[in-house]
Amino acid sequence: MSETGTAPGACSEQAGPLDAWLRDRRERREEAGLRRRLRTLPGRCVDLASNDYLGLSRDPGVVAAAAGALAEHGTGARASRLVTGTLGLHEHLERELCELTGQPAALAFSSGYAANTGVLTALGDADTLIVSDAHVHASLVDGARLSRSPVKIARHSDVAHVAQLLEERSEARAVVIVESVYSVWGDHAPLAELAEVCRAQDALLLVDEAHGIGVAGRGRGLVHGLGLAGSPHVAMTVTLSKALGAQGGAVLGSPALREHLVNTARPFIFDTALAPTSAAAAAEAARIVRTSPELTEALHQRARLVASTLGIPRADAAVQSVPVATPELAVRAAELLRSRGVAVGCFRPPSVPDGISRLRITAPANMELHELSAVLEVVREVLGDVAQAG
Ligand SMILES: Cc1ncc(COP(=O)(O)O)c(C=O)c1O
Repeated sequence: MSETGTAPGACSEQAGPLDAWLRDRRERREEAGLRRRLRTLPGRCVDLASNDYLGLSRDPGVVAAAAGALAEHGTGARASRLVTGTLGLHEHLERELCELTGQPAALAFSSGYAANTGVLTALGDADTLIVSDAHVHASLVDGARLSRSPVKIARHSDVAHVAQLLEERSEARAVVIVESVYSVWGDHAPLAELAEVCRAQDALLLVDEAHGIGVAGRGRGLVHGLGLAGSPHVAMTVTLSKALGAQGGAVLGSPALREHLVNTARPFIFDTALAPTSAAAAAEAARIVRTSPELTEALHQRARLVASTLGIPRADAAVQSVPVATPELAVRAAELLRSRGVAVGCFRPPSVPDGISRLRITAPANMELHELSAVLEVVREVLGDVAQAG
């Protein structure tokens, strides 16, 4: 493969029907400093960019669970869950997720993206208002759009605005969508207040715990931490690909919600079941998170070190974000860091809710504190150089 990912010998001389338009779009992205490129992570890089917050993707027990599933079931689930794809491993995973989060029922999907689009398209219709926080992840935005529901956007974490939109509604039903821990800013949603508003307005609060599981509520998520697990007005989604170190997603809530999803969620019905290795790995990771709260504490210790070294005010989230003046400077800082062996996330529009580009820094629970300190000094130096040059 060449650098651009084009196979050698591929016929590239003939003009395709969209070539001029594709070139124009690429040039516009380039001019705005918003062109993205796929790059492999060199083996020698320190990874402060991934979402494997607890380092569980390489935990020996998690790897052994995946290896056992591989030996027993092979590499794929071979069919959708409703055909022959349901394995005991999926049911085991769903039980472990219920144990971890305190929710009564769970349904696994092949990604967090599929879980979010699945639950929203299954719940939405013309008589169901979706009230969406302004900062929710693209998978929730897409799910809301695909659901054909009327959608209203509430100002970020503004409980009074959510209450107002619910009060004014003419639709019979309503679903409020938020993240427990927001993926870019790392801030917590006011879940207790939102749950109360939803209870009063007979709406369902759907909480995406993608960045809450393994991180908030002693690892069991913010919903559990606030005593909201099992409440009839609260349901949640998770991804298995972040703190659980595997791949996949799930929707958790009442048995009636699960039954509805099995019968109506298109990304569940028309999708091959989650791979056995991912299901087994995520189940073991969920068990470890539930039984080892010290792992989450180690993560917070590292997050506090990131925050204090880089002067970030928020210290209680796994995700630490450093604002950078322009997208170009953010890319420059990330590239300089990569050349010095440190990978950090680089978030630019449209992936940032407020249009401010950022370096996104995470430090896994299993990284030695002295190693992290040394790496953070490099980050601080590069950020200083880039700010001066800008
Ligand atoms: C808040 C949030 N929800 C959902 C997802 C999608 O999860 P997955 O990567 O498992 O598809 C992500 C991943 O980036 C996320 O950050």
